[in-house]
Amino acid sequence: MQADGVKALSNIAIRLATEEDAGELFAVCSAAFGPDDPAWRAYYPRHWTAEGRKAGTERFLSAIKGDHHAVYHKALDVTSGAIVGFSIWTAYDARPLQHPPVLPSPDYWPNALEAEYGHTIMIDLMQKRHDHIESVANSVVHLNTLAVLPAHQRKGIATRLMNWGVETADQLGFPCFVEASPAGRPLYERHGFVFEQEITLVLPAQFVAREPCRYSFMTRPSPGGASSR
Ligand SMILES: CC(C)(COP(=O)(O)OP(=O)(O)OC[C@H]1O[C@@H](n2cnc3c(N)ncnc32)[C@H](O)[C@@H]1OP(=O)(O)O)[C@@H](O)C(=O)NCCC(=O)NCCS
Repeated sequence: MQADGVKALSNIAIRLATEEDAGELFAVCSAAFGPDDPAWRAYYPRHWTAEGRKAGTERFLSAIKGDHHAVYHKALDVTSGAIVGFSIWTAYDARPLQHPPVLPSPDYWPNALEAEYGHTIMIDLMQKRHDHIESVANSVVHLNTLAVLPAHQRKGIATRLMNWGVETADQLGFPCFVEASPAGRPLYERHGFVFEQEITLVLPAQFVAREPCRYSFMTRPSPGGASSR
């Protein structure tokens, strides 16, 4: 089992992703989070359908083009040429997060109610992210996204995608943070992240019946041991 895992991992190369990869990156994320993840359903309506994937790919593409500070890495299966995982890391080096965020047009959602729902949770997530970055003097490394195709999970691919971020943070002497899913939490703990608190994104009254969007807020101290809190 371990030998198979090692063999599979030797076929994986970690490379910088480009605009041309947007469609495959979106497909990896869509498959990894699946149709039941409430935040992904809200951000990328019907992302598991051809139509949802097309619209989501366009948003990924404009995000890649629009944010030159975010670093996208892909895990490439060099045998098949397929992208099987990816990460987005951003080093905030005395540079605040743009706030308020630029939100996708309401037309992206099937109706006004879903657009309001998507916008509401995005605004709350970005507000909390902004406030944390500001609280550490805009000097922190953030893991925005990490995803591996289900068929390629538990082979150490995400572990390799963690390397750029934690090495960059250590070189800069910065702490890190992540809004972690339950699947990601043990991985982050192995990389020195510490659980801080469970966060539930705030929703207006008309949405309270919906499944809440939750994450574990985790931080990794800077190499000198300074806490990011
Ligand atoms: C979270 C996620 C990215 C982890 O990806 P991954 O490539 O499976 O992660 P790794 O293989 O590096 O490590 C995961 C586990 O596999 C184990 N593992 C690593 N190499 C292995 C191998 N060769 N053989 C067997 N198991 C292995 C690790 O020990 C780890 O176990 P643990 O979680 O019980 O501690 C993936 O599950 C995913 O995409 N989930 C859905 C999206 C998501 O939640 N992303 C995180 C958002 S914050």
